[in-house]
Amino acid sequence: MTKEQAYEKILTLRQELDKANDAYYGNAESLISDFEYDSKLEKLLELELHWDLQEPDSPTVRIGGKPSKEFPNVVHPVPMLSLSNTYNLDELRDFDRRVLQGLENAEYSYSAELKYDGMAIRLRYENGKLVLGATRGDGQKGDDITANIRTVDDIPLRLRGDFIPEVVEVRGEAYMEIAAFDEMNQMREEEGQAVFANPRNATAGTLKLQDPKIVAGRPIRFFAYDLLLENSDTELTQTKKLELLTNMGLPVCEIRSECATIDEVCDLIEQWDLKKHSYPFETDGAVIKVNQERYRDLLGATSKAPRWAIAYKFEAEQAITQILEITLQVGRLGTVTPVAELEPVQLAGTTVKRASLHNEDEIRRKDIRVGDRVVVEKAGEIIPQVVSVVNPDAENRSEPFTMPDKCPACGSELVRMDGEVALRCINPSCPPQVRSRIEHFASRDALDIDGLGEAVVSQLVENGLIKTYADLYDLNAEDLIPLERMAEKSANNLIEAIQKSKKQPFERVLYALGLRFVGNKVAKDLAKAFGSIDALMQASEEELTQTDSIGPRIASSVSLFFDEEKNITLINRLKEHGLQFEMIKDETDGPQKLDGLTFVITGTLPGLKRKEAADLIEKNGGKVTGSVSKNTSYLLAGEEAGSKLDKARKLNVPIISEEELLDMIS
Ligand code: IVH
Repeated sequence: MTKEQAYEKILTLRQELDKANDAYYGNAESLISDFEYDSKLEKLLELELHWDLQEPDSPTVRIGGKPSKEFPNVVHPVPMLSLSNTYNLDELRDFDRRVLQGLENAEYSYSAELKYDGMAIRLRYENGKLVLGATRGDGQKGDDITANIRTVDDIPLRLRGDFIPEVVEVRGEAYMEIAAFDEMNQMREEEGQAVFANPRNATAGTLKLQDPKIVAGRPIRFFAYDLLLENSDTELTQTKKLELLTNMGLPVCEIRSECATIDEVCDLIEQWDLKKHSYPFETDGAVIKVNQERYRDLLGATSKAPRWAIAYKFEAEQAITQILEITLQVGRLGTVTPVAELEPVQLAGTTVKRASLHNEDEIRRKDIRVGDRVVVEKAGEIIPQVVSVVNPDAENRSEPFTMPDKCPACGSELVRMDGEVALRCINPSCPPQVRSRIEHFASRDALDIDGLGEAVVSQLVENGLIKTYADLYDLNAEDLIPLERMAEKSANNLIEAIQKSKKQPFERVLYALGLRFVGNKVAKDLAKAFGSIDALMQASEEELTQTDSIGPRIASSVSLFFDEEKNITLINRLKEHGLQFEMIKDETDGPQKLDGLTFVITGTLPGLKRKEAADLIEKNGGKVTGSVSKNTSYLLAGEEAGSKLDKARKLNVPIISEEELLDMIS
């Protein structure tokens, strides 16, 4: 290779890495895998060093990414570095040798922590109060996303405990649990919105939204992994810092251990690797840190990463297989989704036969065609994804895939709703839609009707026994016995399970009804805020948006649902059958202390999180709403209460403290 050729290669690599960085930090999107990114970066560094061609704007010099334009920028007083990666235990032992050398054989230990795959966040507390939440951005400065951070329940607005220095800087990871991510994505897919590729992208995409209300409705979690104190004592360790963080009320990474030697670290990592799919969140590896704080300064850092810590990456679970066919699936809300039927392949311990292709745009972007050999990936419980085509330049590839213009199930014209990527069948009697509305009604998080899965629902619908979920309650065992594979016993069991579902609480019934945009969490919030279906039906869109996590989009969907005569008929039939359309008061049968009282909560309470206070009120029979009106019985106000306090004063609504609330229920 000549120097010119090397330079050309260098420019190409820089361009590819810059593009990946921009997409990752700017749009929270991964164009290439971490492994590919690291290999390219390593190759680039090798070429630059060999040919003496390193330049200041190369991705090997700067940490990729720019903060986005929309948020105010904040400078990080201590830069937020990244970590170097290792991909096998030998590389990890090399790291240990470098540490040993750097510390001139002093005694040290390691803190080994499971690495959650999310987004790095910096929090700043002054005098115990949360004053800033920021992204990492380019490591030197990031975005001020405080308003979004304030909506994350795991993050206390005020620190707890006795040890609260004037300034506390916390570093940690925002992430989403897999089940919550799946549910959110499934809803998005059904609603024709673009789906997120993985929980990490969903987290980053969510925290960069401009509307904190939408953020509040998304299942963001947080754990802290570092604490920066202005004057720390020389005996401080990572173990001790995590303890301090816990005492301050911050969740920390629980899956961790202090290890005396690198051998212990390696053993632990091997165990974690085996268990990595059993965690409720995605993990992409482990982080190994020198435990003693005083050695951090001694070991120092390069411009990109500290020398006292390193990441270990688990091997990504990918496999190569062939696309046999692209089929179309019609969802509960009529969305038509293309699905890749695959040559079965073993992946992460299961046989994968199908992968969702999401929508036509996604297929175009990845240029996926029938017959292609493709890389499929599976992380945790998530539905397998087609990552890329292995042979994009092959000859004799099939024609690019196009979506039909008629519903594959009922033949109706497909429509693309405003701003949606998906095509939708708007015929409400379209058989797969009818079936999946009933399947959703019976599903585990909804009414959890045992024995009413896909196959049985299909049989019931095809045999004309049911058309809607309300028809389920008119069934009796005699209706079922003639069905295939349905003996007397299973028929009786199913009827019993259907009858049992009448006891499910209102929030589940509300979710089961299948309103657009009303998932598990939203249903719970609505049920809590309004207490009954009648109150919810009467609420205006404006009142709805005053509820926690309800934005205009959800509010409008709820109103539309209740405007439809046939939905009201369905609800009335379910009511007649005795389903729960009101919140049941907890614990006691008799009157409760806060019966009939409506509370609004504002500001930072001294001991309880707002959600805890709301739960407490509801448990005692009270109701919590989002805005102060003349119907509000009490405003529960903490520090930094704003406009709600003014409004309560104006309307003469009594204002109480946390202590007074506790007195009321004690
Ligand atoms: S310590 C100087 N600990 O992984 C950087 N990071 O690949 C110190 N991460 O940017 C980071 N779990 O966003 C640390 N237990 C953990 C972590 C963790 C996840 C993330 C973090 C970091 C990235 C580096």
